[in-house]
Amino acid sequence: MNQAVDIRDTRTSPVLVWDQLKDLDKAALARWRMEPVANGRSMEERGITAPMPFGWYAMCYSDELEVGEVKPLHYFERDLVAWRGEDGRARVLDAYCAHLGAHMGYGGKVDGNCLQCPLHSWRWDGDGACTDIPYSKSIPPAMKKPSRERAYETREVNGFVWAWYHPENVPPKYEVVEFEEVGHPDWTEYEKHEWIVYGPMQTIAENGADSAHFKYIHGVANYPNYEISFDGHKRTAKMHVDMGTPQGTVSGTIAYGVDGAGQPWTRFTGMCETLLVTGVTPIARDATHLRFAFTQLKADRDGPRGGLARAMIKDICKQLDQDKVVWDRQKYIESPPLCAGDGPINDFRNFFRQFYAGPEWEKYQDGITRSVSR
Ligand code: FES
Ligand SMILES: [Fe+2]
Repeated sequence: MNQAVDIRDTRTSPVLVWDQLKDLDKAALARWRMEPVANGRSMEERGITAPMPFGWYAMCYSDELEVGEVKPLHYFERDLVAWRGEDGRARVLDAYCAHLGAHMGYGGKVDGNCLQCPLHSWRWDGDGACTDIPYSKSIPPAMKKPSRERAYETREVNGFVWAWYHPENVPPKYEVVEFEEVGHPDWTEYEKHEWIVYGPMQTIAENGADSAHFKYIHGVANYPNYEISFDGHKRTAKMHVDMGTPQGTVSGTIAYGVDGAGQPWTRFTGMCETLLVTGVTPIARDATHLRFAFTQLKADRDGPRGGLARAMIKDICKQLDQDKVVWDRQKYIESPPLCAGDGPINDFRNFFRQFYAGPEWEKYQDGITRSVSR
């Protein structure tokens, strides 16, 4: 391996980074995917001005939060705390206690279904209301009330804990989609992979609409025909692909969708049945946590197509590695000079802008209704 090449440094050419990634073992690759980049450029230098989009976002996997467990989190440029009460429900609050600001993610304790602050032991419920002060008979009236500012609406679906983020505290506008494959006895447990990308949510989501990059970044010989539909807060696409396998060419269908800004999913049928549930969560305007959770039909994963099933996951993750290297260095071009072959990038942007709050984005709020195919 060439020791002179620093794969974390944004001044290293993507081609050199991709080349080095091939030699990393599993643990080193997993580390690289989550490490901070060196010499990254500022948001101003990179033209990143859009706010973080609102939506349902993955906080953690369900199995990362046991009953009675407290977890510090950092998303939406905020410190948060998650805990699971004795009733089994996950809850998410602002990490800083509203009393005198202790960080409850470190040293906070679960008491029944509430969270007990480590500093003066005030107890908070999942709605952000104080339920008990052990040394005082009275609770300040404002603290007795639920708080939309401090408390996050949560859902537990598809093996993830989701929280609703809206910068103006508007309640959820739609629900989290549920997949019946997840947890079904015929389907495997999740195979999990994760990345921190030093780029905004919108750039990552735009990848699927950027047709030309599949050839130039991922080396896909021919970009397959596709059909993309935009409908309110949902975007779906379908493409038919021929995959070269050791058993010859297999034809299959890839269907993918996005519900809101934070919940993309991809379903592979025909080759070996696979569902990829993705959690994309903004850490900041220019940093995003991406989780890939794969479940596959056990009959495929454990049968003669097992090799293909594993190779598919590996290839999808390799594509994400390739994209990450570009995203970590990329500038946002507000009005790009698009040409034929670039894919429906403008349609995608008009769709995505519905997830930004504030007067300048209001005109996009209904999303778009349109189908594009090639
Ligand atoms: S700071 Fe939390 S109870 Fe006082
Ligand atoms: Fe890509």
